[in-house]
Amino acid sequence: MPHTPSAATTAFLARSPFGLFINGEWSESGDGQSFAAANPSDGAELAQLAQATAADVDRAVTAARAALSGPWSHLSPADRSALLRNLGNLITAHAAELAELESLDNGKPIRHTRAIDARVAARQAYHFAGWPTKISGETPAVSIPNHLVYTRREPVGVVGIIIPWNYPLIHTLQKISPALACGNTVIFKPAEQASLVALRLAELFAQAGFPPGVVNILTGDGPTTGAAIANHPGINKVQFTGSLAVGRTVMQAAAGSLKRLALELGNKAANIIFADADLSEAVPGAFKAAFGNTGQSCVAGSRLFVQQDIAADVTRQLAERAATVNIGHALNPATELGPIIDRAQFEAISGYIHRAKAQGATPVFGGQRLTGGDFERGFYLPPTLFSGVPDDAELACEEIFGPVVTVHPFESEAEVIRRANATPYGLAAGVWSRDVGRAHRVAAALQAGVVWVNTYDMFDPAAPFGGFKQSGFGRDNGREVIEAYTEVKSVWVKTG
Ligand code: NAI
Ligand code: MG
Repeated sequence: MPHTPSAATTAFLARSPFGLFINGEWSESGDGQSFAAANPSDGAELAQLAQATAADVDRAVTAARAALSGPWSHLSPADRSALLRNLGNLITAHAAELAELESLDNGKPIRHTRAIDARVAARQAYHFAGWPTKISGETPAVSIPNHLVYTRREPVGVVGIIIPWNYPLIHTLQKISPALACGNTVIFKPAEQASLVALRLAELFAQAGFPPGVVNILTGDGPTTGAAIANHPGINKVQFTGSLAVGRTVMQAAAGSLKRLALELGNKAANIIFADADLSEAVPGAFKAAFGNTGQSCVAGSRLFVQQDIAADVTRQLAERAATVNIGHALNPATELGPIIDRAQFEAISGYIHRAKAQGATPVFGGQRLTGGDFERGFYLPPTLFSGVPDDAELACEEIFGPVVTVHPFESEAEVIRRANATPYGLAAGVWSRDVGRAHRVAAALQAGVVWVNTYDMFDPAAPFGGFKQSGFGRDNGREVIEAYTEVKSVWVKTG
């Protein structure tokens, strides 16, 4: 069945080839190189995008530095609030178009981009619109006589933001909004697999009234554009979201000019169902945790620990759900799970599945690419469940970033806590239990930056989000992100 985009989206795509958004204007990349934006649902090329060079990053840094000490610094906190509110209003007004562009470029089902991604993106802008007038310092109680000390929270400066492809619309607003609320200027690089929504947002930033140079949006790949951002001495902070391997590279690059750094990296979330859980909530919750966004999520509940007595029953119920879920083209309103983002990601996921099978593991459900009809034009995998996989097997240790879950039976609370924590990662985890004491005990014992109890995958701009251990450091959202996007200055005044 063909899925034709709306007139607004068609008109936007017709503007291809797209340039780089630097200093409030569109410009070509320094060496004229471009790359294709593809639709994961059917493999079709959507547009050509500019590949930003190191010289382009340098131009963006010049613009961002000029804005930082120029027009942007003259705006009052209330002015910054108003601009972020304008942005929220524009995202709300264009929500249908942004959702459609996201679905086309990223393969996320339209029912989700409409109901969730576009709304959450607007909510991020509105939430951080409230902050500029509330960012204030303190008067520390120093013991030195005749001195007044007060602190100021000042912007960090030019912030480089690099994101992955899995939640482009939400990530863009989640990362840029607090940076702007704190008075920073931004150089933003979307992932090369899903950049279109960021290019549309560039125009909305301009329309909202942000002065030129405050938000610069540069498309390009990691080794060229991303590395140039991580290395540039004129950038004061890098906020990187992506894989652990690239996170390490960015950390090394940041050492050069001692950039401030926030890293949101990989994960292998443990989701734990106790026998006393309400299974009518826990089973659909665990299904969504593992397979939402086709498992291409940093919080995917990909290690499912189920207490022994109910393990077989829960596994059977999950397999039944997997058999009835609607998989297909992202623009089909009936689709619940979309395609894998691209061939490289599909091959990476398939590699994990094949190696697990070669080691003797048999999937309870799934494990094979879907073929025939519309499935031939993209890469589609069904929800895939394995049981009987040892905790230390590759499949149970590595982040797969696809629709694959391993089910691990357990007996006691102490045992499952130990097994859940036996990972270098620590971003998110889940607990399902009707026992209030147990739920709080386990939530406290799990080494993860977010623990969901009898729920999963919940986010709000007011609640901090980020990793323990090798899942990174720094936090998105909450008061914490405001602290992370500001420097504290102590001012000493002799009063007598
Ligand atoms: P990736 O690390 O390959 O790419 C992420 C971003 O970094 C892209 O924009 C890419 O162009 C850029 N990049 C690549 N090489 C670079 C370099 N040398 N210097 C600077 N930037 C570079 O990750 P991928 O494969 O695109 O995304 C999947 C990974 O991201 C998963 O491991 C997943 O866990 C992680 N992720 C983490 C999240 C979190 O909040 N902790 C959220 C979403 C994804
Ligand atoms: Mg794409």
